[in-house]
Amino acid sequence: MSALDRIAAIEAEALQAVGAAMTTAELEELRVRFLGRKAELPNLLRGVSNLPPQERGAVGKRANEARKSIEARVEAATAALATAELDARLAADRVDVTLPGDPPRPVGRLHLLTATRREIEDVFLGLGFSIAEGPEVELVHYNFDALNHAPTHPARGRSDTFYVQGAGDDVVLRTHTSPMQIRAMEATPPPIHIIVPGRVYRRDSDATHTPQFHQVEGLAVDEDITLADLKGTLLAFARAIFGEEREVRLRPHFFPFTEPSVEVDVSCFNCSGTGSLRDGSRCPLCKGTAWIEILGAGMVDPNVFGYVREHGYDPERIQGYAFGMGVERIAMLKHGVPDLRLFYDNDLRFLEQFG
Ligand code: PHE
Repeated sequence: MSALDRIAAIEAEALQAVGAAMTTAELEELRVRFLGRKAELPNLLRGVSNLPPQERGAVGKRANEARKSIEARVEAATAALATAELDARLAADRVDVTLPGDPPRPVGRLHLLTATRREIEDVFLGLGFSIAEGPEVELVHYNFDALNHAPTHPARGRSDTFYVQGAGDDVVLRTHTSPMQIRAMEATPPPIHIIVPGRVYRRDSDATHTPQFHQVEGLAVDEDITLADLKGTLLAFARAIFGEEREVRLRPHFFPFTEPSVEVDVSCFNCSGTGSLRDGSRCPLCKGTAWIEILGAGMVDPNVFGYVREHGYDPERIQGYAFGMGVERIAMLKHGVPDLRLFYDNDLRFLEQFG
């Protein structure tokens, strides 16, 4: 075979192979095989000077053409395949940052106190109440005075209540959510149906008391609200939280800002209100009494309305009820939590049992 024919054969073979290549890696192999230092065509080119003078021009020219055409074809094919490969990689590697992790990580859970507060809120929202919140740093006027506390009431003492330094004797950390009764009535004329969840503070610390805890206040005021409305509302609440078979009872009590005042008990859900367990032993939850105290309540004292009379609360015309419960207490009762401090220890072995 003449040199020219051999060049044509190499060129044809190379171009055919390049046309059939599927990847840039294959093309790189072909480039080395046909154009690399040890390849036949470049060797032919280097050997041109050894040819008889009359052949040199034609063979050199043809070999050079073949090299250039193979080079050009490899380059074009590489460019085309590289684009396609990049597109494929971009599509395959695309990360959707909005997808859940793989494997999905648990997002955590609500603290039992948050879950309980929301559960309580849901019950009252369902009964037509709305939610109001108020300041934790509160004026003595709202925390005690306007709630009809006598000047000598023991809760005003510095041994019971946190006073804010540098504010005279006028500012405390609220000791209950009841101050929002006054603030809400100042802000909205009757009728009013609100609950007030929030933190409260008292100088107390033991297994059943922490210096900071949570309450949910309730207030309903209109022209024709009675103690029966209070009892019916709290019965619906007790059944929603503690079970459909529950009953409630009201016992006489005293609060400065309600008259009459009551403590509200729910029939014991541990012994179905019997006071004893199946084996005849005394129920440890209600201590054999069949009832469990869950909150304080009463009809709003006319003296309290006296503080908001000019906002539409004429004590001769309107009446209402109020109640206040401890969120920790409700959660402890419902879930059998033995020590209040467990809520604040942040021990996962406790927290992970709920929610
Ligand atoms: N504020 C009272 C307390 O903290 C509870 C209460 C609220 C009682 C509303 C009656 C009416 O103990």
